[in-house]
Amino acid sequence: MGMEDILILAIESSCDETAAAVVRNGREVLSNVIYSQIALHTEFGGVVPEIASRKHIEKINQVMEQALTQAKVGLKDITALAVTYGPGLVGALLVGVSAAKAVSFAARIPLVGVHHIEGHISANYIENKDLEPPFLCLVVSGGHSHLVSVRDYGEYEIIGRTRDDAAGEAFDKVARAIGLGYPGGPKIDKVSRDGNPDAIRFPRAKVAGSAYDFSFSGLKSAVLNYLNTCEMKGEPVNTADVAASFQKAVVEVLTEHSMEAVKEYGGRKFAIAGGVASNAALRAALEEACQKAGVAFYYPSPVFCTDNAAMIGVAGYYEYKKGIRHGYGLNAVPNLKLGERI
Ligand code: KG4
Ligand code: ZN
Repeated sequence: MGMEDILILAIESSCDETAAAVVRNGREVLSNVIYSQIALHTEFGGVVPEIASRKHIEKINQVMEQALTQAKVGLKDITALAVTYGPGLVGALLVGVSAAKAVSFAARIPLVGVHHIEGHISANYIENKDLEPPFLCLVVSGGHSHLVSVRDYGEYEIIGRTRDDAAGEAFDKVARAIGLGYPGGPKIDKVSRDGNPDAIRFPRAKVAGSAYDFSFSGLKSAVLNYLNTCEMKGEPVNTADVAASFQKAVVEVLTEHSMEAVKEYGGRKFAIAGGVASNAALRAALEEACQKAGVAFYYPSPVFCTDNAAMIGVAGYYEYKKGIRHGYGLNAVPNLKLGERI
């Protein structure tokens, strides 16, 4: 490692992945270790917060050590620690925050708290070395559906948001209803490939008065109604067709709103982030729409779309460069707002 290199050890534990990574100079991922708890939560049909916290405690040290080992560095080489302190499950966040504070104290390494969604957005910097703000970003995860104007590193304006369910939440709920289980997103993505997206016409919700806001609860209800009607009539349900038709409705709404925002905000760069950004149909639709509009389209590899610590290391680097530091008073903030620093 050169003396001038800035090395960030990043920690992420906001939901059901225990993750640590080492990132060099903001964009180069030296290691990206993810312990996924998905198998533990599957039998409950969703993330059980208490189980998540306990597993994070069990795994956090091991994951941090692996991240250092795989990056072939020691704590002495680390410039700063970056940790997700919100938003997320409070008990889960606390494990990462406590671990980061302990290492920061013991090894005398500066500590930088990072917003989870800022991390998701920053995942785009890893593989797109030329991408710099300003740009527009669609953030679609299990907890969030935001259209964000990224004005500068660490400076955001939310121009659209969901009024009810997040996009990922809709995927998870519909998947459960059609018997695919948790986590629903990747499963719907997969079975949709064998289905007809035009088999059933589900509603595309508009939110009155706001071109960029989303609403997915009506769509979810429409799918449930369809399933009930089939059951009452004794008609068989084609799971792949329902999945593909539902997915098409989500993708169309996300794509349309995104493109309207691109037009209005005039940028020439558009990016996607969050777990749902790994959806193949969404990526294809946005790629095509951006191409038509003459806008450059950026997207992270799937492993950097779903929760990981590399993205936290990237966001942490830019926060560190801005001079942001947190003391040992850093706490988990479950409802932390994007752009807010506590
Ligand atoms: O960003 P993420 O890993 O965690 C949160 O911050 O929420 O996103 C998880 C969400 C879940 O709802 C999951 O079902 C969804 O992302 N997801 C997908 C796909 N992969 C993950 N949704 C649609 N298609 C996918 N391929
Ligand atoms: Zn996330």
